[in-house]
Formats: sequence, structure tokens, C-alpha cells
Amino acid sequence: MQEPKTYFIRTYGCQMNELDTQIMAGQLEKRGLSPVEDEDNADVLIFNTCSIRDLAERKVMGKLGQIGRGKKKQALIGITGCMAMAKKDSLFRKFPHLDFVLGTNNITDLGTVVDEALISNRQIYKTDDKFEENLNYLAAKRESKIKAFVSIIRGCDKYCTYCVVPYTRGQEVSRPPESILEECKQLVDQGYKEITLLGQNVNSYGKDASWNCLFHDLLYQIDRIPGMERVRFITSHPVDITIDLMHAVRDLKSLCEFVHFPIQAGSNRILKKMHRIYTKEQYFEKVALLKQIVPNVSLGTDIIVGFPTETEAEFQETYDAIKEIRYSVGFFYAYSPRKGTPAMRWKDDIPEEVKQDRLQRLLNLQETIGNELRSEMLGQTVEVLVERLNKDHRLLKGRTRCWKKVIFEGPEALIGTLQKVKIHSFAHETLVGELVKPSSLLTVS
Ligand code: SAH
Ligand code: SF4
Ligand code: F3S
Repeated sequence: MQEPKTYFIRTYGCQMNELDTQIMAGQLEKRGLSPVEDEDNADVLIFNTCSIRDLAERKVMGKLGQIGRGKKKQALIGITGCMAMAKKDSLFRKFPHLDFVLGTNNITDLGTVVDEALISNRQIYKTDDKFEENLNYLAAKRESKIKAFVSIIRGCDKYCTYCVVPYTRGQEVSRPPESILEECKQLVDQGYKEITLLGQNVNSYGKDASWNCLFHDLLYQIDRIPGMERVRFITSHPVDITIDLMHAVRDLKSLCEFVHFPIQAGSNRILKKMHRIYTKEQYFEKVALLKQIVPNVSLGTDIIVGFPTETEAEFQETYDAIKEIRYSVGFFYAYSPRKGTPAMRWKDDIPEEVKQDRLQRLLNLQETIGNELRSEMLGQTVEVLVERLNKDHRLLKGRTRCWKKVIFEGPEALIGTLQKVKIHSFAHETLVGELVKPSSLLTVS
């Protein structure tokens, strides 16, 4: 096969996958390949996949089946991401037209794998269980010039019983602080205004390493970078949210007052069965402490409904927890059994209709809470990082420090700047406001 000239990467799943896609794209571009808009025209076609729920996998399987049924083009076709880890070389049996499978811990090896596949014309796979700290993060090719993801820790050691991630991403490996700081400095120099630190459990940062830098230490160091405007982090495990971290959220100018604090379930029996290693009471205590230390904090959560044996009364405890804590963002999922996880031992005994009904009740509740929280913001002036034009190209769109979407009228030149906006109304989940003072334009006119 000839040396490929173009590539297309389709990304499924979470922000870790988005960043891995950017790193792979950077590697391919260094090799001289250019991106194409249409996957049918790509010489290298990669599916960066997700295994978190059955639906995520089915989407990719459907897509690969379609490509297989069509004429196999001259493209080199590869699967990367979590499904590559969950299914490994068994994917070749199902999809004979696949050229390579590359695991989440091997994205450094993309170039080598492409070479081997080109030369040998054989199906190649690399799926190491452990991540080796040799990835060139700085190669990442980002679409946005305003916001960037930065990986700080890969893998997960928590082993929640329902979750595939510890198996698809391997054990926790923290990235050296110097490497993170170097990337953050570069991003600030390039004009980026917001950095999101990524990890399956960012709060574990540094615990696996010999250097003396835990997550909050890292945040203090990042905050000291001149010109660092906004820092966020996702995601956190409640057990590892420390008082030091809460103080950092209160004290660091760059660190946004938003904490994703996923409770998953409100019943102690279910939490135990999920191996979440906290009780509802411990969780509530921590949230209370955080709200006391950072009164203007906004919280996010993830919830799984219909976990094996979850009763209506236990679901009601989840419902009540949401009602009491009043998260500003909630992601709600129906339990989906995953191969290889401990929860597979238990029968998936909650009927689909019951799961869907519970989901709907949570969505309705969250809409009510969201509307209440948005109403409380009417008349307030907030800081918005202007990211782009709204869909209809008339209004500017951005987010507050607490991750709330805001639209307002203003000149396009404000994209990429921080502005003060006074909120006067809201439509669905989006706040609508008015520019208070276009600060960056003052010097222009
Ligand atoms: N590390 C992150 C979670 C990543 S997965 C964290 O712990 O916050 C994102 C969410 O998907 C999880 O929080 C959980 O709510 C949901 N999830 C994970 N496995 C699932 C499964 N088997 N079925 C349904 N939802 C699941
Ligand atoms: Fe999965 Fe739990 Fe790890 Fe999150 S903390 S990635 S839910 S095992
Ligand atoms: Fe999916 Fe893997 Fe992320 S399973 S949610 S892509 S860590």
C-alpha cells in the first residue's frame, strides 16, 4: 500500500478520548498527513472508541459493519480507544477488513503500527495493560484556540463494580508535574484562556509517584503561571476530594468554582454494591464542607439508575439526594452490564421500562432544580469566556466559571476574550444576558 496522505478520526466517548484523538491527529500530521472532512476520502480511518455502555459499543460496531459491507476502500482502517482494549484482537475476527487495533496505553505507537500495517499487509495489534510515560503530549492538534484539555493522570484504580474503565485504561499513572507545567505554559503563550485538567480520577494525582506533588500542589503551581486565566478539572472521585483541594478552589484565582462530585447512587446498600467506598452520610458531609468553604461553588454529578437489585425505595434515596444537594449539572445513565466487570455476576434484573422511568423522573427533577438555580442568577453579572457564535450566528456564546452556558449580543471580535455579562433571562439551559463592558474593545476603539 502507498504512503497515506489523508486521515479522518471519528471520536466516541469522553474527554480523554477527545484528547487522545488530538494527540493521534498531531502524530499523523507530523508524518505529513492532512485531515479530510469526509471519512470516505481518508487514507487512514480511525475509530477512537468507547465501551462505557452497550450503546456506545453498538454505534461503532454498526459503523464498522457498514464499512465492511461496502467495498473495502484502499484506506487503512484502525480501532483505538476503550473498545480496542475491551475486545483486542477478537475485533479482527468480526471485522476482517480492519487493519489495526491500538490500545489506550499505546497511542505513542501509532506511527509504528501504521508502518507495520502498510509494509506487512497483516492485521496488527498493540494493547498493553500499562501506560508507559513516553507520550508526546505536545504533539496534540487542537481545534479550539481558546480552550484546551491537558492530561494529568491516566487510568483508574478505583474498580467500581459496574465500570470497564480500570480494564480499558489500566492502572493509574500520573504524568510528571514538569511536563504538565511545560504544556500549560505553552498553551498560555499560545493564547489559550481555559485549561481543563483530565483524568478518570484527577484527585489521585501524584499518589502513585515518588515526586512530592499531589493534586492540590499541582493546582497551586499551575495557578502561578503568568497569564493563566481559567483552570478546570474532571473528573473526581468523592473519596479523594480533600480539604486541601477545597481550599485551592476557594483561594486560587484561576481555578473555577465548579466541582464534578459524582454520587452515582443515594442508597448505602447500592453504593456498597457499586464499591464506591463512601456512605451517603460521608458524601453529604463532604459536600457540606465544600459548600461551607466555597459558598459560591457549583456541583455536578453522575447517576446510574437500575443497578442490579435497586428497589424503588433505594431509587427514591437517589432522587432525594439530588433534591437536597441541588447540582447544577447532572448526567444520568441507565445501568448497562459490561463484560469483565464484577457487576456482571449479578443479574441485570431491573426491567428497561423501570430504568427509563427512573431516568425520566431524574431528568424532570433536574430540570426543575436547574430552572430554580438559573432564576437565582437573574440580575447577576458573571464572567463569560466567549467561545463562539451561537448556532444562528447572531449571538455570542460562552460559559461562566461555574460552567453555565450564556448567550448575549456583541461583536465577533470578543470571541476568545473574558467578558462581564449581566443575566436577564434564560431559555432552557442557557442563560441570556447583556454585555456590561466590552473590555478588550476599549483599547481598540
Ligand atoms: N471516572 C469518572 C467516570 C467515567 S465514566 C468518574 O468516576 O467520575 C462516566 C460515568 O458513566 C460514570 O460516572 C457512571 O455514572 C457512568 N457509567 C459507568 N459505567 C456504567 C455502566 N456500566 N452503566 C451505566 N453507566 C455507567
Ligand atoms: Fe469507573 Fe469508578 Fe474509575 Fe470512575 S472511579 S472510572 S466510575 S471505576
Ligand atoms: Fe468511554 Fe473509555 Fe472514556 S470507556 S467514557 S472512552 S474512558
